[in-house]
Amino acid sequence: MAHDIPYDGSRPDHRASRYLELMRDWEALQDAGAGWLANASNLVALLHRGLGFWWTGFYLLRPTDGTLVLGPFQGPVACTRIPFHKGVCGHAYTTNEAIIVPDVDLFPGHIACASASKSEIVLPVRDTHGNVVMVLDVDSDQLNDFSEVDQAGLQRLMDLIELNWENWN
Ligand code: SME
Repeated sequence: MAHDIPYDGSRPDHRASRYLELMRDWEALQDAGAGWLANASNLVALLHRGLGFWWTGFYLLRPTDGTLVLGPFQGPVACTRIPFHKGVCGHAYTTNEAIIVPDVDLFPGHIACASASKSEIVLPVRDTHGNVVMVLDVDSDQLNDFSEVDQAGLQRLMDLIELNWENWN
């Protein structure tokens, strides 16, 4: 499995090929009968170790109080609840679009769970009907660490959640 081979961030071409490897790993790892929590937890671990990110996790939609609530993650402890309209996560949720933030200090309303986080990418994750059910948040301790390569690679992985959501629940 690709995620057991250390990620070499010094090779600019490595991230794109690593996403392809992780996609194959993710297809093989999915276990519909285990439910969404087990599958989402494994996907986070796959991404976090496979790409050497600083923080990787899901925030889950909780419509009853208008918040995104911390879900499966890897990395340092994080904020537990984010109002729908706050932060980078809230922005991705309310616009229903992925967002790349090259320098978190320049993003108005960024929620700093830790000062070591320098750049960030957040993608909405949808169920089989296209409704946003959570967001994927990935943080780096390097400025400007995310590009369209990450957005495309992560989107392909999230698309598999959308396809499988009903089987997981
Ligand atoms: N920075 C995020 C909050 C979550 S942490 O980065 C893990 C935001 O502004 O929404």
